[in-house]
Amino acid sequence: MPVEPETEVLLSRTEIAAAIDRLAAEVRRDYLGKCPLLVGILKGSFVFMADLVRRLDFPLEIDFVRLSSYGPGTESSGQVRVVQGLRSPVRGREVLVIEDIVDTGLTDSYFLEYLRKRRPASLRLCSLLDKPARRRFPVKIDYLGFSIPDRFVVGYGLDLDEKYRNLSDVCVLVEG
Ligand code: IMP
Repeated sequence: MPVEPETEVLLSRTEIAAAIDRLAAEVRRDYLGKCPLLVGILKGSFVFMADLVRRLDFPLEIDFVRLSSYGPGTESSGQVRVVQGLRSPVRGREVLVIEDIVDTGLTDSYFLEYLRKRRPASLRLCSLLDKPARRRFPVKIDYLGFSIPDRFVVGYGLDLDEKYRNLSDVCVLVEG
């Protein structure tokens, strides 16, 4: 087995759970009775999405897209690819995009524009994490869990070369 880098907890599962309670209350306040379409961006958002929707006690629908702006490693390739598109119609729907992390903003600025062209009734973004120091493309985050420093994070759905998604905490990699 190859040796993986060590990890250190940046945000514990307890802190994450408290943030998701808060986010769920905000989303509930804004979408109760509106049957929103929650669109998760795969793969990174799958854990966050699963925890968030189980705190939402009103009718809603779920879909997923797979977009890719990263090749192997930790740097963005600068291009967004739609690997798997939406199956649900968006026109006239209250659409809430669920993201794991907004980094340069490339992926979300692209995808929000892609959705906007399809004429939803409303369009908002909910992200667990934000790395504002890295922003190159402006993105409005309507519901945010945490703003974090410019470190590469893994766990709670986030990966490095497909590893670490299964960690329950958001962690940083320890160098060396
Ligand atoms: P952006 O297009 O640069 O904003 O990057 C968005 C995507 O890059 C996220 O949805 C993640 O999949 C990935 N990403 C950005 N930063 C990190 C990180 O620190 N750890 C793991 N994935 C990241």
